Amino acid sequence: MTKLLFVSGSLRAASSSTATCRAFIEALGARADCNLAEIGSLPLYNADHDGGAPVAAWKDAVEAAGGLVFVTPEYNYSVPGVLKNAIDWASRPAYESVFKGKPCLVVSVSGGALGGVRAQSHLKYILHGMLADVFPCQEVVIPHAPKKVENGVLADEAAVSFGTRALETFIARVSDDVRPGVRSQKPAGGQFPGSVREIPRMAERRA
Ligand SMILES: Cc1cc2nc3c(=O)[nH]c(=O)nc-3n(C[C@H](O)[C@H](O)[C@H](O)COP(=O)(O)O)c2cc1C
Repeated sequence: MTKLLFVSGSLRAASSSTATCRAFIEALGARADCNLAEIGSLPLYNADHDGGAPVAAWKDAVEAAGGLVFVTPEYNYSVPGVLKNAIDWASRPAYESVFKGKPCLVVSVSGGALGGVRAQSHLKYILHGMLADVFPCQEVVIPHAPKKVENGVLADEAAVSFGTRALETFIARVSDDVRPGVRSQKPAGGQFPGSVREIPRMAERRA
């Protein structure tokens, strides 16, 4: 079964980002083996140290995951420092880190109307810089998210169902063994959500 590691960009207990992770994990049920990353115990990045056990555990979790699902708020028009700190720890050696080729899906939330779309764009740029395989789909953005949390879970049926469709396609892509950029598998019985293009496999294109 596909192993997905969810990474919330917010540490607070009542976080709508973490509540969104929980809603997606619930919605996926047995379709994926989902875990929520613990990045709150990571020290601040310092290249003089290896960061000890929390950093080793975080890197191992990224490496073991078939795909990463980031759900992040926007802080001051960009990615929260805690999330960037976690990414920085796992980003070495440059271009050869555990992020290289790692399928990543990005979701953003916000208290405001824009759904954290600027943070989403910045995070995708950061992931590209580590040669991660950033999943192309319609942007999953969740505005006014804190108002939609009930009992620690995002209670917004439309947003959860839209995001879950993207996740289903992501899972199909993660479990597909062809190279990034030439994947052509469709989700069972459905269309790709959004702008995912069907690109013929290399062998088909040469034929
Ligand atoms: C330090 C800080 C900076 C913020 N900057 C932005 C911002 O640039 N854009 C935005 O839409 N919301 C911003 N917000 C509001 C967040 O979207 C809102 O607090 C959200 O609920 C945080 O995510 P969480 O619920 O997962 O903790 C900011 C909040 C904080 C605490």
